[in-house]
Amino acid sequence: LVIVLDFGGQYNQLVARRVRECNVYCEIYSYKTDIQKIKEMNPKGIILTGGPNSCYEADSPTYSEELFKLGIPVLGLCYGAQLMMHVLGGEVKKADVREYGKTEVVVDKTLSKVFQGVSEKTICWMSHFDYIAQTAPGFEITAHTADCPVAASENEVEKLYAIQFHPEVLHTVEGTKMINNFVKRVCKCSGDWKMDAFVENSIKEIRQKVGSGKVLCALSGGVDSSVAAVMLSKAIGNQLTCVFVDHGLLRKNEGDEVEAVFGPDGPYDLNFIRVNAQERFYDKLKGVEEPERKRKIIGEEFIRVFEEEAKKIGAVDFLVQGTIYPDVVESGLGGESAVIKSHHNVGGLPDYVDFKEIIEPLRDLFKDEVRKAGLEMGIPEHLVFRQPFPGPGLGIRIIGEVTAEKVRMVQDADAIYREEIANAGLDRSIGQYFAGLTNMRSVGVMGDERTYDYAVALRAVNTVDFMTAEAAEIPFEVLNKVMSRIINEVRGVNRVMYDLTSKPPGTIEFE
Ligand code: XMP
Repeated sequence: LVIVLDFGGQYNQLVARRVRECNVYCEIYSYKTDIQKIKEMNPKGIILTGGPNSCYEADSPTYSEELFKLGIPVLGLCYGAQLMMHVLGGEVKKADVREYGKTEVVVDKTLSKVFQGVSEKTICWMSHFDYIAQTAPGFEITAHTADCPVAASENEVEKLYAIQFHPEVLHTVEGTKMINNFVKRVCKCSGDWKMDAFVENSIKEIRQKVGSGKVLCALSGGVDSSVAAVMLSKAIGNQLTCVFVDHGLLRKNEGDEVEAVFGPDGPYDLNFIRVNAQERFYDKLKGVEEPERKRKIIGEEFIRVFEEEAKKIGAVDFLVQGTIYPDVVESGLGGESAVIKSHHNVGGLPDYVDFKEIIEPLRDLFKDEVRKAGLEMGIPEHLVFRQPFPGPGLGIRIIGEVTAEKVRMVQDADAIYREEIANAGLDRSIGQYFAGLTNMRSVGVMGDERTYDYAVALRAVNTVDFMTAEAAEIPFEVLNKVMSRIINEVRGVNRVMYDLTSKPPGTIEFE
């Protein structure tokens, strides 16, 4: 285990990712984590991340000197490097020029353990306004740049390493090599953390924890809850009950597809309960046009349906949540950003379900790792690589009031769109794509008849993190084909548009 201590930098998750890419298991903790707890975890190495503060200011995040005396190797990055120097008696000052962007770093000590195999002159990503003016006693400078006398320094005997730039960012061309060097050569990690071992261990742990207890899981058919459910099923079989609420806002045939995989005819041993609550949701949504109200209604109704089902089952010992690592980190650090849309995840925690404890088997995994775990357990690829689908489902892809008729139109249009995208071989290369139903009706002509029907909007975006996105450039002939099929095959639609808006100012979904 390697521990990443988080000082509030924007690249912290990347640090963890890079370490895991070296097949070394690692977890992120807040800089407020008690030294006692760190000792108990007995990590092989500790990495201090960057952060937005100045370490010499009184109320900046810091850590006691003891951390550096545990005999555990420590690597400080950016703020973490400055803090290491500051705490151990070096000097950090405000620089005249802020160093930002790709910068040539000259490695002075090519024999340094962290710079093994790294070029003497190497491009690194810098982002700092403070600099290390004086290293702490016992440290030697191992790299510099034109503007920065201490781009890296180390105390080899104490196994303390400070790097001013960001090796975790891909712009640092040889950064992964440096991190690999730290975890393997300095921390002596063996690098044998693999997904199959993770899956196997998790299954064992779940078995131990649950014993002969009963477990309840809300299954949405999405990647996270599917992988969690399969893991539980492999661990405890039919001590697990999965409740799948079909709220009538799923994509075409999706309810049946989920049932085919997880239901009694599927390969998994679990009690699968499908609740067909379509009408109930449509009733609640009648006449409601405001997007936030729609979201709230769908979210709340979902919990009520789930609770009712849970009541029938009676008391359970554990409730499964498909929480993944980014959810954990975001909820720990959040609070800064404005609420653009509420209830990003339908669900939350039900109030009236009788359970003792929550199980979150994917809590330590990134999305792509969840997918790997899914493949490892033999979950079909089409489920594992499913594109993101919002909890409120088609409810937020139908602008204005939701009706069964509109759901049918959007389902049919979306199915055609997805089919043609797959036919064109584009389905793995576009981040997220779907059809939505605008609330616009317009005049058209079809077979000499006047029509007055709805307009469908096609959306396709490329995105790295879903925080920003750009419209995907789909070949015109593909769009044309989708258009003509939708107009010919979907009753009630007479116009098809392609949404070019990026995010920001748009969002990915329509509401
Ligand atoms: P937006 O529309 O906010 O979407 O740009 C960003 C990503 O989040 C998904 N999304 C949601 N997921 N509940 C969810 O579970 C929601 O209410 C919700 N709203 C948006 C969206 O599909 C995209 O992947």
